[in-house]
Amino acid sequence: MKRALLLLNVLVFISCDRNGQRTYDDTPYELNIPSYVTAYEGEISNVESITKEKVALGRELFFSTMLSEDYSMSCATCHGQSTGFSDPNQFSTGTQGVSGNRNAMSVAYLGWDSEFFWDGRAFSLSHQALGPVLNEIELNTTWEEVISRFEDDRDLMNAYQRSFGYKEVSQTELTEAIAAYESTIIGFDSPYDRWFYNFETDVISESAIRGSGIYFDKAECVHCHGGPLLTDHTFKNNGLDSVFTDIGLMETTSSPLDEGKFKVPSLRNISLTAPYMHDGRFSTLEEVIEHYNSGVKSSATLDPDMHVFEGGLGLTQQEKDDLLAFLMTFTDSSMLSNSNFSDPN
Ligand code: HEC
Ligand code: HEC
Repeated sequence: MKRALLLLNVLVFISCDRNGQRTYDDTPYELNIPSYVTAYEGEISNVESITKEKVALGRELFFSTMLSEDYSMSCATCHGQSTGFSDPNQFSTGTQGVSGNRNAMSVAYLGWDSEFFWDGRAFSLSHQALGPVLNEIELNTTWEEVISRFEDDRDLMNAYQRSFGYKEVSQTELTEAIAAYESTIIGFDSPYDRWFYNFETDVISESAIRGSGIYFDKAECVHCHGGPLLTDHTFKNNGLDSVFTDIGLMETTSSPLDEGKFKVPSLRNISLTAPYMHDGRFSTLEEVIEHYNSGVKSSATLDPDMHVFEGGLGLTQQEKDDLLAFLMTFTDSSMLSNSNFSDPN
């Protein structure tokens, strides 16, 4: 039966080809997204189509050192699975041994975003993926070079044709495949999901339950890190500095009203993605909590929701421990072990 089906497939495939019609496969990739996520965030919107074929190709590319000048690095070098798809180094180092001034954030849960990088300079996941290949402090090569290497690889070319048909290879399709893969990097089985959305009891500690009160009420973290993805997808100034060496969103918009505003990151799996903030200035969550508790600095663009923090929150040690315990419940440990996301080779 299976064989007959397979044969049929081949026939359909060939006949399509002869008629000059579709010559690729588009098997839908089943994403396990709970209804409470879709109800609030909508469907994944920034990726054109998430097919099994594109995801498989994108995953190959994400882990391929072919994307770097000297075959020494891949996207995964700075966005590794064992650290929640972020870089454990404060600043990432590119092929030339040069590093920038920003911390590599996680690439998980990005399917619902519409602006990327700490300063929002990319407007889609596939557009984003164009940059690192060219960036001299990242992969430092050219798309012509990548495409020529790609065309020499028979397995990749087969995967390409399965995904896109007999089309000339261009960066548009390659980055579309990378984006399709990235949008599958999700997981909604954290203790937080079980407790908050599925009403399971005894899945988070008493301390974490107390911490949720601080998160939702006393410290109002939820203003910016709310909703099922624990981000409001905006850019804000959370009081890290009063004088800005990195102007953040203003670099993209040129508006002084955006000085010092940075992307509000999702706090899902936050325990895995140290160090923290756009410049990785905090190496632990304890330091982050202390920032919000006593370190918030004033400036013209400080978010109005941050004014409660000015002058300090005055959290007790117990309250800080409780908040930390709550932040730890955002971790879905399958993020580290899910073989669908891991290096295919
Ligand atoms: C040398 C390290 C390095 C490499 C290699 C690298 N990145 Fe990044 N990535 C970063 C840094 C640093 C940032 C943050 C830069 C910024 O905001 O200015 C980032 C940001 C991102 C973001 C934005 C996430 C968000 O929430 O907005 C995505 C997506 C991403 N990278 C995907 C990729 C892909 C795909 C590749 C491979 C084509 C790649 N990266 C290669 C270091 C790297
Ligand atoms: C006014 C909006 C706002 C509020 C309120 C807020 N945050 Fe943030 N948070 C941000 C922004 C913006 C960033 C990124 C800032 C940067 O890197 O420059 C951030 C970053 C973080 C990070 C680091 C994320 C990473 O990937 O590096 C953590 C952890 C965090 N916040 C936790 C909290 C906690 C806990 C609270 C409550 C005590 C809180 N935030 C309240 C806006 C906010």
